[in-house]
Amino acid sequence: MPDALRARFVGAGQGHVFKFLDEGKLTAEQASALIKQLEAIDVTLVNELFAATTAAAASEAASGPVAAKLEPATGVTDVTKSDRAEEWRAHGMSMIARGEVAALILAGGQGTRLGFDRPKGEYDVSLPSHKTIFQIQAERILRLKALAAAGAAAGSSGTGAPLPLYVMTSPMTDADTRAFWAEHAYFGLPVEDVFFFCQGTLPSLSMDGKILLETGWKVAENPDGNGGIYRALHLSGAVADMRKRGVKGVHVFAVDNVIVRAADPTFVGYCDAQGCDMGSKVCAKAGPHEKVGVLCKRDGTYTVVEYSEMDAATAEMTNTGTGELTFNAGNICIHYFTVDFLATTCAPEALPKVYHLAKKNILTAHPDTGKTMSKAEQAAVLGHAGNNGIKLESFIFDVFPRSKHMAVLQVPREAEFSPVKNAPGSADDSPDTARALVSALHGKWLASAGVSDAASFALVEVSPLASYGGEGLPAGSLPAEHPAAARGDATCLLVVTPGEAAKLGVTAPTGIASVGGRSVVVDVVSA
Ligand code: UD1
Repeated sequence: MPDALRARFVGAGQGHVFKFLDEGKLTAEQASALIKQLEAIDVTLVNELFAATTAAAASEAASGPVAAKLEPATGVTDVTKSDRAEEWRAHGMSMIARGEVAALILAGGQGTRLGFDRPKGEYDVSLPSHKTIFQIQAERILRLKALAAAGAAAGSSGTGAPLPLYVMTSPMTDADTRAFWAEHAYFGLPVEDVFFFCQGTLPSLSMDGKILLETGWKVAENPDGNGGIYRALHLSGAVADMRKRGVKGVHVFAVDNVIVRAADPTFVGYCDAQGCDMGSKVCAKAGPHEKVGVLCKRDGTYTVVEYSEMDAATAEMTNTGTGELTFNAGNICIHYFTVDFLATTCAPEALPKVYHLAKKNILTAHPDTGKTMSKAEQAAVLGHAGNNGIKLESFIFDVFPRSKHMAVLQVPREAEFSPVKNAPGSADDSPDTARALVSALHGKWLASAGVSDAASFALVEVSPLASYGGEGLPAGSLPAEHPAAARGDATCLLVVTPGEAAKLGVTAPTGIASVGGRSVVVDVVSA
């Protein structure tokens, strides 16, 4: 046992982590596993986070309701009402063509609510193609690379514009995610342009801030939240990698959004044109009680208040005259950061120490055996079955108040936000609602392109390789009609590139294929 390690924990008032070791109850392997885990814990930081977070919670509670401290977000540009959207898109495209933009998927969360025990990006929402969310997001980037390269003066190169992708995993999703992408040959993205990095964990704590042991030889830990991105970007070398590549800004989005406009040139161009250090996309809330955070202002700076922290009366407040919700800027977990902001304001030593605190029932080690207790055993030992500890988490928007100039773009939800959070069959944010949103959006694209009967299909999907946002679907390249008589039992329409069609056994311009057991009308967009 290294003396310095013991001194560090004892000095920090956390010496109890050595209890089972000191009682001689650990095997050599258990002892070395414990020591290895403890070596990786910054115990001073853990204590600081606990102190700052509990102090902030106490002063927040003493200073009255949160609602009274909030003001609605100002400076929100509605992209649908601006005549500059095309200008921003062109600017973003030229940044992408120059290699100044990176995409980043937040994929450290677990699909607990979805009832899926693999990384969420591996989920198939049962679109006609049966592509996983990771594949859809990767292919959208591929298409954008091609569009940006084609639009650039230098012309198109073989692999398109350079657009590196960073994927944040957590210890729970890291190995599976890396293996999945490797198995699928990175969905066609150049392997050297896909950078995985893993967010950190934090020890779970007792109510008074003592590190909890899950077993006599293992500290109970939880992921540090999606705000762990900043520390992890630094520690993994991702920020340095961005610098080396000449990336200027990073477009960050949640893995669970099936229609996300990955690396959206309009948003990136908008943010860069504002000269901001970071930006955020919002959608008008679907209703006062939609389960999204709200972007608002507090003490003059932007902040996000989660729906669970906003009381009903505040959530329901409406503006006289317009009838719009006062707190209407729904956070859709799509953000933009300049690499300068990540490198300086978000350097590990500069990050906020006030985290979010969740009280939980955390299973811990039996005081005699060191084995993890069952819920019933723990209740007997503690004398209650309630919460015995806390998990500290940081959120990606905790740095918003540090922004000197934040750009906010309001976008139409039907074109940009279709989260998959809840299990199939749920009324909101489920694979079913996401599938319906994709179908409605892509149906609209096809209708604008002149496919008159797209609406007669139960489900419509346009491959991201064929179109990023509705472009590239000229009427002439699609059969104008799909007479019902010729469809047989095919109720779905899938629009693909010639390469994808060939894999489905369809030669241009149209055909019927069986995909995942479903009979699908396949339309091919000319290359
Ligand atoms: C998040 C937002 C919420 C917003 C909603 C929109 C945060 C903290 N909250 O809430 O304001 O209205 O999305 O859908 O951003 N993740 C990690 N590591 C973690 C936890 C999460 O990478 O430790 C990732 C998830 O994989 C996901 C994203 O962060 O891609 C959002 O996390 P999730 O838990 O789905 O957040 P929500 O509670 O839905």
